[in-house]
Amino acid sequence: MADAMIDLRSDTVTRPTDSMRAAMARAEVGDDVYGEDPTVGQLEERVAGLFGHEAALFMPTGSMANVLAVRSLVAPGQEVLCESAAHIARAELGAHGAYSGVTMRTWHHPRGQVDLAMVQTLFAPDMGPFFVPTAAISVENTHNFAGGAVLPLSDLRDLRDFATGVGAAIHMDGARIWNAHVATGTPLREYGAVADVMAVCLSKGLGAPVGSLLVGSRDTVAEARIWRKRMGGGMRQVGILAAAGLHALDHHVERLADDHAHARLLAAACGVDPDGVDTNIVVVPRPDAPDFVARAADAGVRVATVGPTTVRLVTHLGVTRAAAEAAAGVLARLV
Ligand SMILES: Cc1ncc(COP(=O)(O)O)c(C=O)c1O
Repeated sequence: MADAMIDLRSDTVTRPTDSMRAAMARAEVGDDVYGEDPTVGQLEERVAGLFGHEAALFMPTGSMANVLAVRSLVAPGQEVLCESAAHIARAELGAHGAYSGVTMRTWHHPRGQVDLAMVQTLFAPDMGPFFVPTAAISVENTHNFAGGAVLPLSDLRDLRDFATGVGAAIHMDGARIWNAHVATGTPLREYGAVADVMAVCLSKGLGAPVGSLLVGSRDTVAEARIWRKRMGGGMRQVGILAAAGLHALDHHVERLADDHAHARLLAAACGVDPDGVDTNIVVVPRPDAPDFVARAADAGVRVATVGPTTVRLVTHLGVTRAAAEAAAGVLARLV
């Protein structure tokens, strides 16, 4: 019964395809804590190169990649600025404070965008024993809770100029940077060029069962390697998982355009303007969100709430055109 449901709760619910499983089964492996897994090495080198950075580090989750990325830029007692609905602020269970002693101040934008004027207002220089100094600014591209909104490259470049001018670093949570790349045609390198450190995920739209990477300089990655082990994230023969990521990079990037088209279809069915849907996430304001979720499930479509009055639909590899059309029919009736 569960498999007959159309699952739009998240793009993390995908299962590895048969060809991805075959690639995993073929993977050459070694002990990655000894730096001896050739498939992990291949993935790290490839992903670093895609973003024009020196190095990358494979790790289990996007949350761990974000925590290690932010802590590489922000020392205990310093702060990072970010948008108020950023995943690092809202959905990592306070990890940046709990593990890294980092504080956050936020600006708000309904579409998760960079508000440079607000960033300039919030930015705090190091004033010795007075205020928390701002060490970094974090951006999320695409922005999950803002409905998969893309951050335009021009805004990111303006932010880069400001940050460089004041000596702040930039962290990019690029869990869905692939969606931004496909939606806008912006080369991944251009996104890489605005960030000092990035976190990118293979386990969202790309459909790998697990895996994220921190991307940055050789020194940053060397230090993150120590922290990954310290936090219990040293993994052994994980070439088997890295192979899924390499397969996803070969086969699942360009197809994200289908997910974006399906998301627009679902938006229209739910009375949301499809032109406001940049990528694969649709946010539907519903005063009856929990009830709507239950009624959709009864009708065979799983959707999620991301707030008491907000329903979220996410398209992915496991949702075919036919399934998207069927779900749109169901949701249009409920709306
Ligand atoms: C924007 C963003 N960043 C980071 C993460 C964390 O990824 P993980 O679930 O692998 O920890 C997510 C998860 O959905 C996300 O949406």
